[in-house]
Amino acid sequence: MSDSHQVILEVHDMCKNFGETVALNHVDLALETGEIRGLIGENGSGKSTVSSIISGMQPATSGTMTYKGKPWKPATVLDGLENGIGMIVQEAGTLGNITVAENLFLGDYKRFKRFGMIDRKAMNREAQKAMDRIGLQDIHPSWPVRRLDMQSRKLLELARIMNHDPEILIIDETTTALGQSGREILYSVMHRAAEEGKTVMIISHDLDEMMEHCDTLTVLRDGVIIDNLKREQFEPGLIKKLMVGREIQDNYYRTDQDGYDEKDVVLKADTITTMKDLLCFSLELHRGEILGIGGLSDCGMHTLGHALFGLEKVLDGEVKLVDKGITVKSSEQAFSCGMGYISKDRDNESLEQNASIRANIASTGYKVNRGIGCLISGRKEDNYVKKQIRDLSIKCRDQHQLVKELSGGNKQKVVFGKWIAYDADILIMDCPTRGVDIGVKSAMYQLIYQMKKAGKSIVMISEEMPELMGMSDRLLIMKDGEVNGEFFRRDGFHEHEIIECMI
Ligand SMILES: Nc1ncnc2c1ncn2[C@@H]1O[C@H](COP(=O)(O)OP(=O)(O)OP(=O)(O)O)[C@@H](O)[C@H]1O
Ligand SMILES: [Mg+2]
Repeated sequence: MSDSHQVILEVHDMCKNFGETVALNHVDLALETGEIRGLIGENGSGKSTVSSIISGMQPATSGTMTYKGKPWKPATVLDGLENGIGMIVQEAGTLGNITVAENLFLGDYKRFKRFGMIDRKAMNREAQKAMDRIGLQDIHPSWPVRRLDMQSRKLLELARIMNHDPEILIIDETTTALGQSGREILYSVMHRAAEEGKTVMIISHDLDEMMEHCDTLTVLRDGVIIDNLKREQFEPGLIKKLMVGREIQDNYYRTDQDGYDEKDVVLKADTITTMKDLLCFSLELHRGEILGIGGLSDCGMHTLGHALFGLEKVLDGEVKLVDKGITVKSSEQAFSCGMGYISKDRDNESLEQNASIRANIASTGYKVNRGIGCLISGRKEDNYVKKQIRDLSIKCRDQHQLVKELSGGNKQKVVFGKWIAYDADILIMDCPTRGVDIGVKSAMYQLIYQMKKAGKSIVMISEEMPELMGMSDRLLIMKDGEVNGEFFRRDGFHEHEIIECMI
């Protein structure tokens, strides 16, 4: 943190209501130059709301802001960005059907206009420079963004914002979309900005990450600022208590050594090859096993998840449901054979944003919720949905609220809930606890463990090492589309050995 700090932005007495929901309740906040500020709190505590008001995405219900000593009331995100405040949003912030360069200069094409036409060569050249500036490699400016993985899309947002050289950079729950290499890019951009006297505000549920990178932590609970902690006051127990309002347990992973039947294979990937990432890849999943899959972001583990559930075309080899003697050809077939899949990309692959929580969760339950004839029993469906809302503490008005109105972590709970409710025999989970706060994470781990105990089989793909080591029976580390190491819970997991296998 640089030596001379000045307040650059102040939020005074801000409130934000959505109908009866009070998202922000008389919030006061002051950000300083040269600092990295962390904003931390449970799902639905108001972190994205306050950030989005500062950056111009939506107005407050009441209250005022001051930026560089003057009243601040941005009309749009572009207005915010042009005046030096840029935000990487929690949800997807790029458009898939236009190119990388077009995304980078969205709303700003006119600078490349020559004789009434866009000078694409010049635009691509500038795009390359913007990506080089943050160290984003191996992406061509002319590619359509839909070809990129989630990490690259998020880093593109970062490149776009950094190209405006912002005074205040806001990063909302971005790290969970990134692998290790992406995180390093993000951290180095953050620290460089702070050293130059700029202000960074980051939101994350990863307490270790926040304690490592932030100078100050602001804790929000139910739309109220509970405390601002300086670095020397950082202490995990205290921070958690401030967030949740009560003491919470530290050990939320399983502690047992229960194994699984090594002879009872339920799912088999037999030398599968996909268009990208996987070449003659094999694995076996056993009944009652939690199989962890880890690696660096480009190791192919997310493609593997897709391929196992029939979402990625398998060009050679096969994914086989051993009990049923069936080769998985499509996600519809996988689903009807009792498989489930929690996607990392919840916005595009797992949720119907414009539908209610009920419709989303109940979408997996039409077979079990049938009443007389083919009709759905409203009562059964009600129980199916309400149990998930209760077990996962989904913060909502009621089950009829639209998913798009929920906070990021609460959306993730809806995805998780819909698959837990389905009671799949085989569940493929890609980053299942993405963006979920510590309290509910612990509930999710218990549910995963209960599934195992009930004889279900789980593939857990994750970027989070503690979660992989905490939950897996067996852990496969992938590198360049291949298994580079296999570790067993019964032998104990050693982090340095596992990480060595990744790089
Ligand atoms: N457009 C909206 N309509 C209705 N309610 C909303 C809307 N946007 C946010 N809310 C509500 O405001 C509250 C605060 O949400 P916010 O997104 O700020 O939480 P958050 O702290 O960012 O949580 P998370 O960690 O899950 O991202 C939540 O109760 C949420 O449901
Ligand atoms: Mg949020």
